[in-house]
This record gives sequence, C-alpha cells and structure tokens, in this order.
Amino acid sequence: MLPIVLAALVGFVPLAACHISIFHPSMYGFNVTDQFSYDNRPVAPLINYTFDQWWFHGHLGFPPNEGDFFELPAGQKATTELACNKGATSFFASSDGGDIRDPNDPNNPCPGSPISEFHTTGIDDVKGCALAIAYNDNVTAIQPEDFTVFSVNQTCVWTRFTDFSVPARMPPCPEGGCTCAFFWIHSPDSGSEQNYMNGFKCNVTGSTSNVALAKPQVPRRCGADPDFQKLDAVPGNCTYGAKQPFYWFQAEVNNMFEGTFAPPFYNDLYDFIDGAQNDIFQDSYVGSIPTPGPNQTTLPVLAQNLPNGPSSTSASAPSSTSSNGPSPSTSTVPSPSKFPIIKQCRSPSSSLSKREDQSAPSFHRLLFGLPKRRRQLDTTNLWSPFPF
Ligand SMILES: *[C@@H]1O[C@H](CO)[C@@H](O)[C@H](O)[C@H]1NC(C)=O
Ligand SMILES: *[C@@H]1O[C@H](CO)[C@@H](O)[C@H](O)[C@H]1NC(C)=O
Ligand SMILES: *[C@@H]1O[C@H](CO)[C@@H](O)[C@H](O)[C@H]1NC(C)=O
Ligand SMILES: *[C@@H]1O[C@H](CO)[C@@H](O)[C@H](O)[C@H]1NC(C)=O
Ligand SMILES: *[C@@H]1O[C@H](CO)[C@@H](O)[C@H](O)[C@H]1NC(C)=O
Ligand SMILES: *[C@@H]1O[C@H](CO)[C@@H](O)[C@H](O)[C@H]1NC(C)=O
Ligand SMILES: *[C@@H]1O[C@H](CO)[C@@H](O)[C@H](O)[C@H]1NC(C)=O
Repeated sequence: MLPIVLAALVGFVPLAACHISIFHPSMYGFNVTDQFSYDNRPVAPLINYTFDQWWFHGHLGFPPNEGDFFELPAGQKATTELACNKGATSFFASSDGGDIRDPNDPNNPCPGSPISEFHTTGIDDVKGCALAIAYNDNVTAIQPEDFTVFSVNQTCVWTRFTDFSVPARMPPCPEGGCTCAFFWIHSPDSGSEQNYMNGFKCNVTGSTSNVALAKPQVPRRCGADPDFQKLDAVPGNCTYGAKQPFYWFQAEVNNMFEGTFAPPFYNDLYDFIDGAQNDIFQDSYVGSIPTPGPNQTTLPVLAQNLPNGPSSTSASAPSSTSSNGPSPSTSTVPSPSKFPIIKQCRSPSSSLSKREDQSAPSFHRLLFGLPKRRRQLDTTNLWSPFPF
C-alpha cells in the first residue's frame, strides 16, 4: 500500500481539488465525500472500473432529495455548473471546504488550479462534453444503451457556467421525470484515459412535440482526424440520429474500443455537432438511415421537422426502452481496506500517458483548421445532410 501512495504523491501536485463534475442538487452523489473505500467523489475520473463502479459513478445509492430535478427547457439553453469542487459552485454551502469561488474569476471551474486541472492545453484543445437522457424515471431499470446524447458543448470544459442547448422537439418526460447524465472525455494531451459520468434527475419543460426519441446507436469516428493523418471527414461512416454516450476504457460494458491516444470525443469527430442534437427523434430522417461504413456513399435525408418547422401530429408517447443489453456486474464490492483519498491532481509534466509528440496535434489543427463548427457555419457543405 505505502509504495502505491508514494508513487501517487510523486506524480501529483498538491491541489485542494481535482478533475470535473457537474454539480446540482438533482445529481446522484451530490454530497459524496469519503464514504467509499477509494476516491469516489463526483469529480474523480472513472478508469478501468467495473460496471457498478463507473455506472452513475457508483452513486445510485446516493439519490437526490425528493423533488429535485434539473430542468431542461425545450428549445432553450440549460446552464450547468461544472467544477473541480462543489465549493466552486453555487452549491458551496454543502461543501466541506465552504465557498472557494474566485470573486475575481467567478466563471473559473477550478479556482486556484492550473489549466491542466481541466485537462486541456488551451481553448483550441477542449474536446467537448455532453448531456444524455433516458425517458425513464426508474433509474435501476436504465441500461447504458438507453441513454441518448441530446446536447453537446464542444468548448467544454472551459467555464464553470456551461450552456447546453436543449432540442426544441424534446417530448415531455414520464410522470416521475427523466434521468440524465453528464459525460466528458478529455484530450489525451493532458492526462490519461479518463471518463466522466455523473447522473442526475431531469425534466423537460415547455415541450411542443410528443414524438419519442429514436433508439440510440453507438457513435462512429467519422470526422476529420488530422492527428491520425485523416485530413477529411468520411461522412458515410457517421452514425446519424440518436447516439449513445461513449462508454470507454472501463473494465467492462464498454461500447467504444479506441486506444489510449485516440479517445472518442463529443465533437464533430463522432458527428456530435455543437449544441442541440436536433436529429434524435423517431421522425428526424426520411425513411431508414443507411448503414454507416467507410464506403457508404448514401447519406440519410433529414425530414423537414427541425425546430420551427411544421410540428408533428404523431401521437406516439416518449419511449422508456429498456433493452436487453450487457447485464450489469454484481461483483463490485470495493476493497475493504480504506485507501487514502488522494486529493491532488496530476501535474502537467507528470502525466503518465503524455507522449513527447503530443504538442504536434495543435499545430496540425492550426494548419488544417478546426473541424468543429464546420457544419454549422457552412450550410452549403456538400457532405452535410443538415440544413443548419
Ligand atoms: C484494469 O484492471 C485490471 C484488474 O485490476 C488490470 O489487470 C488491468 O491491467 C487494468 N487495465 C488497464 C488498462 O489499466
Ligand atoms: C446534502 O447536504 C446538505 C447539507 O447537509 C443537505 O441539506 C442536503 O439535503 C443533502 N442532499 C442530499 C441529496 O443528501
Ligand atoms: C424499477 O426497475 C427495476 C429493474 O428493472 C424493477 O425491478 C423495479 O420493479 C422497477 N420499479 C418500479 C417502481 O417500477
Ligand atoms: C457552451 O458553453 C459556453 C459557456 O456557457 C457558451 O458560451 C456556449 O454558447 C455554449 N455552446 C453551445 C453550443 O451551447
Ligand atoms: C416536469 O415538467 C412538466 C412540464 O412543466 C410538469 O408538468 C411535470 O410535473 C414535471 N415533472 C416533475 C416530476 O416534476
Ligand atoms: C469508421 O468508423 C469506425 C468506428 O468508429 C472507425 O473504427 C473507423 O476508423 C472509421 N473509418 C473511417 C474511414 O472513417
Ligand atoms: C471499403 O473499400 C475498400 C476499397 O475498395 C475495401 O478494401 C474495404 O474492405 C471496404 N471496407 C468495407 C468495410 O466494406
């Protein structure tokens, strides 16, 4: 045990807080501090964990108080608070260390910490984060393949207050509300293969459509990928429509199998456009979506039912699908010995997985341009099936 702790300390700089979580009273694990035998605070990254450990951050036993929901106003922005420590958010009152917000920089997600704390070398290096939803109020019935990413912020994590655009056509939730989760995988330039997932109870307000979400599929790497000598997007390779979040680098129940230096990202690389994912509904595309693949030349056709379009008359109810996917592990009893909670973070220079050539990608991006926003800005883009 001791050598492990020492090794950890050598590689870590002494900071009061680590990594990032969404914070809101509607979340699972809102007050989790040191209840676990390992560091399982909401901000702790999830790597190589058993299903019970990574799913909802292992916080299903720490539900929010009755009636606490995060509201998702259809067609508008929902503002989240992302931080390294609950004390850096509006909810500091229930944080051990009290209010650590920086009055001179209230939008700083990690007051007093270097930029590597949120795992990026600069604004051009942020990789995006996502909110996903399951139309089910019974959290124990929800399976990984039930979550659909409905909003992405490609410039996340950069600020404490981070906006997510909610698709205008989000249908109402079941009586007990919906279940949501925050997902983030950061750049490999700054830290190791870490996944983040924090679940919370959510509710869609102001719905104007009753069309259910389509069954979410596994996202595919289809955007330009200059870091890997792929200069152009391969649009036929994209998963269009409703997509699952990435479940990557855990000990079990993964849906992504990319290597350490090629993490999946919530951006154009996997066809997660910046903002509301407006094509996630059962009627979003005309006919069926062609099977994606590197040689697929037929792209799906969007139906004309985007925001502000003619509203649908379909009466189908929101789905609360619970399919038979991989079954959760039941073997997850954390080791009985109390492992000291290491509250420090990795320093920028000590990253175990940092490679010498990791500074090259940013140059690439300067040369070839950021793939992000391409589709939003260039509406005449030939390969884009999206008129927005
Ligand atoms: C994951 O954990 C297992 C068992 O603890 C270990 O054998 C394996 O090397 C770990 N894999 C990675 C990629 O860390
Ligand atoms: C979290 O702690 C605060 C302060 O003790 C308490 O008021 C609140 O009810 C707790 N919330 C949950 C979900 O346990
Ligand atoms: C919630 O789902 C679990 C697992 O499918 C099931 O056993 C339980 O009965 C459900 N609870 C309710 C209230 O429907
Ligand atoms: C991402 O969040 C930032 C900070 O709140 C916000 O300015 C920006 O508009 C958001 N992007 C999208 C696409 O919603
Ligand atoms: C969710 O929002 C809808 C629309 O405002 C409301 O009617 C419903 O009561 C809310 N559900 C919950 C569980 O709060
Ligand atoms: C297509 O997507 C798959 C799955 O994500 C990926 O492994 C492959 O590299 C992609 N190929 C091309 C040419 O985009
Ligand atoms: C795509 O086409 C190339 C060249 O014709 C071929 O080598 C490859 O096997 C095809 N890939 C798939 C997935 O069909």
